[in-house]
Formats: sequence, C-alpha cells, structure tokens
Amino acid sequence: TAPGLWPSAQPESARPESAWPEPARPRIIMCAPDHFEVSYTINPWMRPDEWESRRAELSGAAAAGWSALRNRLHQLGAAVELVAPHPGLPDLVFTANAAVVLDGKALVARFRHPERRPEEPHFRRFFDGLASRGLLDAVHDMPPGLCLEGAGDCVHDAGRGVFFLGHGFRSDREAAAVVADLFGEEVEPLELVDPRFYHMDTALCPLSGGEVLYVPGAFSAEGRGRLRERIGADRLIAVPEADAVRLAANAVNLGRDVVLAEASDDLKAALAERGYRVHEVPIRSFGLSGGSAFCLTLRLDRRSVRAAAAAP
Ligand code: ARG
Repeated sequence: TAPGLWPSAQPESARPESAWPEPARPRIIMCAPDHFEVSYTINPWMRPDEWESRRAELSGAAAAGWSALRNRLHQLGAAVELVAPHPGLPDLVFTANAAVVLDGKALVARFRHPERRPEEPHFRRFFDGLASRGLLDAVHDMPPGLCLEGAGDCVHDAGRGVFFLGHGFRSDREAAAVVADLFGEEVEPLELVDPRFYHMDTALCPLSGGEVLYVPGAFSAEGRGRLRERIGADRLIAVPEADAVRLAANAVNLGRDVVLAEASDDLKAALAERGYRVHEVPIRSFGLSGGSAFCLTLRLDRRSVRAAAAAP
C-alpha cells in the first residue's frame, strides 16, 4: 500500500474521523460568476444560443448555485480566496484552470483557445498577490509553445504522489516534463478521447481514501489499462454514464465529503459504501459551459507526501 492510502481490506467503519487525510483548513480559490455566460463555443457543452434564450434564468441560477457551493465549502471547513471577476472573461469562474498548485508553487496556465488566453495575465496577477501575502512561495509560467490548463487537466492524487495529466484536447502531453521538473512529483499523462470530457477533471477524481472516480469512456483502452494498473481495479469507481454526462466526476473531495452537482442513487450508494458523504449543490447551469464543482475551485494548500513529511 502506497503511503497515504487506506489498506483496501480495512472496513470503512474502521476509518476514524480524525484519520481522514485532509488538512484541517483547506484553502480554495473561487471567482464569483458576475460575468459568467456562454458567449463562445470551445467544448461540446457550450451553446450560446441556448444561453441567450434563457439568460436571466440561467445567470440567476448560476449566481445562487455558486453561492451555495461556496457556503457548503465554508461549512466543510474551507477558507475561500476570491479572484476578482472581469467583464468579457466569462470562464474566469473556472478557477481549476488557473494553475497547477502544489507545495506553495503555482504554475500558471497557458490556455489552448484564444477565447481563454486573456485570463492568463489576470490569474498571474492574482497569484503574485497571493505570493506577496505569503500564501504562495513562487509563481511560475509555462515555457513558450506549451499548453497546460491548470488543475483542470493536471489532477493531483495526493495519496499516490502523482499528477494525472489529461491531453488530447486542451493540454499538451509534453507539459508532463514541465510539471515533473517543477514539482518533483510523478506525472502520468493519459489521453482523453471523448470531447465531452475534454478536461481531466471531468473524467477523473481521486478521493482522499485512495479510491478514484473515473469515466471509463473518456480514456483510451491503453489509458484504462494504466489506471487499473496504478490504482487497482478494487479502488476504481466507474461513474455511470448518466452521472458522467451530469459532470458528476467533477467533484470536490474534502476528507470524507464529496461535493458535486448531482449524483444518481447508484453513485451515491457506491460512495456511501466506502464511507463518503455526498453533498449536492445546485450548480447545473455551469454545465452549459462544460463545468461543475471541481472546475469552480482550486486548492491552494495541496502538499506532496514528501513535503508534508519534511514539514516541521
Ligand atoms: N467553458 C470552459 C472551457 O471550456 C469550462 C471549463 C471547465 N473547467 C474545467 N476544469 N473542466 O474551458
């Protein structure tokens, strides 16, 4: 068993509350949806005409849902840092894409599509601000010519000490070496093959107890094989298709709590069986942009097992 993972034989009831491997106070970056809308199409979920015809309803629902998500994360013990919303940058709400953050270092995103490129300097200034407040040690940029859309495509599995890097739609496979060099953490690049699951965080979600939620059809046969090898068939939880298309894999996991837009009874049962508590928040209108709970957040306090062990 890798460090930080539960032995699979251990019954869930034997996991004491205090042993769930999460820091006492997770710090999460969010951005209020004041300027959120669907005004261009860079993934198959985005339909500007539908947004336009239901604008008032959808933007009202987005504002309410986003607040419900923030409040729930607060209740679960998280401190939330806010990026200032900006007119003309509707996808700035998806802070998961802002950067890869680990051990006090941030690697600011380089976006694939020109529609999102203007977010880069905005996020860069925000992270510089965090560094000047002592909340980050260093802020790095991607080398020229390489795309990497932050934690949305570079999903950290803290227990295994590995980043799962999704490539094929947004991020470049070659970004793996940049991440490995900067963070000293292993990187497992996996090709994404279904355009509906264009970011890794729509297809895969490592949980604190060592299980991993995943959308099998989002990966190539080779990728599925790599995941089985790395994670073990007994810890891979396949997200049913009906949940996958509601972006249920795009969940925020804090300790034993899993926050998502909605989950079927089957998925809820699979999680409950392993000791997790599921919280549904009404954020469906972000689905019209191809985003959900995880996309709307970015963890600032993630530590590698190595750094945590070295800490005083
Ligand atoms: N409309 C955004 C885009 O296509 C949604 C991003 C969702 N973020 C995520 N981490 N999956 O880029």
